Amino acid sequence: MVTIAHISDPHVGSPYFVPNLMNRVIKELNELGPDAVVVSGDLTAEGFRQEYKNWLAYAERIEAPVHTVPGNHDSRNVGYLHFEDLIGPRQWVVDVGDVRLVGVDSSEPDLNEGKVGRVHYPWIAEQFSHPAALKIFVIHHHLLPIPGTGRERSTVMDAGDLLEVLIHAGVNVVLSGHKHVPYVWQLEDMYIANAGTVSSLRVRGYTKPCYNILSFDGDSVEIRRKFPFGDEHLMARFSLFETTRRHREAPVQEAAGVAEAR
Ligand SMILES: [Fe+2]
Ligand SMILES: [Fe+2]
Repeated sequence: MVTIAHISDPHVGSPYFVPNLMNRVIKELNELGPDAVVVSGDLTAEGFRQEYKNWLAYAERIEAPVHTVPGNHDSRNVGYLHFEDLIGPRQWVVDVGDVRLVGVDSSEPDLNEGKVGRVHYPWIAEQFSHPAALKIFVIHHHLLPIPGTGRERSTVMDAGDLLEVLIHAGVNVVLSGHKHVPYVWQLEDMYIANAGTVSSLRVRGYTKPCYNILSFDGDSVEIRRKFPFGDEHLMARFSLFETTRRHREAPVQEAAGVAEAR
């Protein structure tokens, strides 16, 4: 059994960042004891060095190994230099048990739009050519439009090409963030799990801060959404040998608890 927690978009330095939420999530993560924690970008609000240092003061309290890609906010004001100095490489590959994770930087300096770029496709395909029981790709921007995120301009510019690279490489799961709306899509045999913001009140409509927990056991994968201080919901459950979707994602607002809120 491998458990990977996926948090995204903490946005330390933003007036909407809530320390109490981040502190709670760190406590919940340390109680859960996952094998790894993936952070899919937007650690900061403006990419400033002090914001990175403030983020690290939180991240260093997470007991599990943390693997992080940058988001568009982290690349503002040449913040990607601080990312490289303080966080680590902007693209990486790591094995957690027999799970292979590959993370890339989809941000562009001072732009909100993202792209990976064809120059990186061979490297991505090569990392996934390594035999692994489960292959996970980590990226900040969306690969498919996410409902409830407004007019679509949040997918990477080369989403079609990249999707094809990933599907051909046998990727099972993509972990992404960016617009703070949790959602899961299935495309071919690949599941694309977008996380909400873990600790910011920059939320859309009735969505709430949350994060995802992926568990992999034998051939079975489960992705659950956890609300800090609250309960958790199943987002997707599937078998690698039988990738038919068994659990349909509820519409975003319904899944966020709007029915109860009304
Ligand atoms: Fe964000
Ligand atoms: Fe973002």
